[in-house]
Amino acid sequence: MAKLTVNGKEHEFQAEPATPLLWVLREQLQLTGTKYGCGIAQCGACTVHIDGVATRSCVRPLSSLKPEQEVVTIEGLSRNGTHPVQRAWRTLDVPQCGFCQSGMIMAVSALLKHKPQPTDAEIDAAITNICRCGTYNRVRAAIHWVARGNATRAERAVQPSEGSAA
Ligand code: FES
Ligand code: FES
Repeated sequence: MAKLTVNGKEHEFQAEPATPLLWVLREQLQLTGTKYGCGIAQCGACTVHIDGVATRSCVRPLSSLKPEQEVVTIEGLSRNGTHPVQRAWRTLDVPQCGFCQSGMIMAVSALLKHKPQPTDAEIDAAITNICRCGTYNRVRAAIHWVARGNATRAERAVQPSEGSAA
């Protein structure tokens, strides 16, 4: 029996130690907001937070995680989609097909938590997620929208794992 803390809740489930975290999230825990794109850490569709750090879950075996580590998925980023990054995404209409966007939002929210006002160069270095629809310009605009303080103080205070819906 394996244990994992995801979105503030402890889960127990059956899985082989070599199972990638992505498949535990999607198959064992039914958290299907995290997507499978490439399976080789290239596209970022599977990005989640592990102890606040953006992590590509397709290449993190279950055996590399401790039960006390905090995994946050798009479903747990905020209560009712109120994270400032989610608000920016809606306000600036960032997604097109949407497939890459939960990974993109998780990568961006981790960046802004550690670097609230990133430069374009810092954005380019940190956000290497692939979007086949080419939303890169709107992603960049949304990051700057949050950095400029368009999100309210209350929204900025929302912490990961505070709620369970994205
Ligand atoms: S599915 Fe994990 S990086 Fe592409
Ligand atoms: S919005 Fe379609 S792949 Fe990014």
